Amino acid sequence: MREVWTDKPLFVRISATDWAEGPEKAEDGTWLQWGVEQVILWADKMMSVGVVDLIDCSSGGNWVKQKIAAGHGYQVPFAAAIKKAHPTLVVGAVGNIVDPEIAESYLKDGKVDLVFLAREFIRNPHWALTAAKVLGAKVKPANQYERAW
Ligand SMILES: Cc1cc2nc3c(=O)[nH]c(=O)nc-3n(C[C@H](O)[C@H](O)[C@H](O)COP(=O)(O)O)c2cc1C
Repeated sequence: MREVWTDKPLFVRISATDWAEGPEKAEDGTWLQWGVEQVILWADKMMSVGVVDLIDCSSGGNWVKQKIAAGHGYQVPFAAAIKKAHPTLVVGAVGNIVDPEIAESYLKDGKVDLVFLAREFIRNPHWALTAAKVLGAKVKPANQYERAW
């Protein structure tokens, strides 16, 4: 990928868990299911190759009985675990992030370097403006709106 995507940021989306029941690893060290411990090992390899600019941490589901409690920021702990294990790696969090102050706290607390939102932008296309207001950030409106801003 890097050979052809030479001058642009290369992001890798990963699933940090399959949300299967039980522990990721047995006491004898056998891996029982996919999870964040293995993602951290995988991230080691990614870093040693040195071509990836950002890990975009999501989760997935190869386990039919999974019950995902998809609350606000429900995947952030996985992203934060990767960031903690690899502080120099640029890590983005995704997954039902909706609240500007909470989103900002993920960044300020150093849990992750970036937050990505999708569904909240569908619910509220003006989320960026909402967030700017809540966080006291200055935004520049479109030129046409400036007089009435
Ligand atoms: C119905 C649905 C299925 C999704 N499936 C996957 C998936 O298989 N793998 C993945 O990495 N992300 C998956 N996502 C996450 C999206 O790719 C995207 O990252 C996420 O919707 C953005 O976060 P947000 O919409 O919670 O703000 C899915 C999202 C939805 C709503």
